[in-house]
Amino acid sequence: MRRFEDRQVEDEKITAILEAVRQAPSWANLQCWRLIVVKEASAKEELSGFSYVDSFFGPLGYKTNPAKKGIAEAPVVIVACADPSQSGVLWNQSYYMTDMGIAAQNLMLACREVGLGTVFVGVFNEEGIRDLLDIPLHIRVVGLFPIGYPLEERPAGPPRKPLSEIVFYERWEQ
Ligand SMILES: Cc1cc2nc3c(=O)[nH]c(=O)nc-3n(C[C@H](O)[C@H](O)[C@H](O)COP(=O)(O)O)c2cc1C
Repeated sequence: MRRFEDRQVEDEKITAILEAVRQAPSWANLQCWRLIVVKEASAKEELSGFSYVDSFFGPLGYKTNPAKKGIAEAPVVIVACADPSQSGVLWNQSYYMTDMGIAAQNLMLACREVGLGTVFVGVFNEEGIRDLLDIPLHIRVVGLFPIGYPLEERPAGPPRKPLSEIVFYERWEQ
């Protein structure tokens, strides 16, 4: 959901969403997530501006991030951060992204549960957001989640690959 009504969201609903993140499973239960709840209009405007990264969207031919407008108009934006030192690194895998992925799904499902819409925004200028919100250097910004009452019915969403393309039985098939 990328467009939102011009209507405030009740604090209890935001608390319920944050609680859903808090309950997520994580590497060794280290709970690496740190969340910034942004409501200030000027900050949301700036976050919206930081959701475009030329080197990513330019070559793909997109004019901008499809979520850009929604970040400015949503009553609340949750900036989801992670402290990688509070998660595992094993055999070149950084598990803070896994932790945050699960937490993000909890966040999105909780939004749906309380009648709100959101979208995972994973493309942004991290340095810009870091400066804007005083985020320390050892913390990574993982996602922006604009949250509000959906302006429209949830669109069907783009199609998924069939199971036959993504599932193998017994071993990897060529
Ligand atoms: C890690 C991640 C990053 C994403 N980043 C963006 C983004 O920057 N902008 C955007 O509009 N959507 C973003 N999305 C949303 C996906 O485009 C969307 O989930 C996908 O197209 C499937 O559509 P659906 O969720 O409506 O079914 C992101 C999703 C994920 C999981």
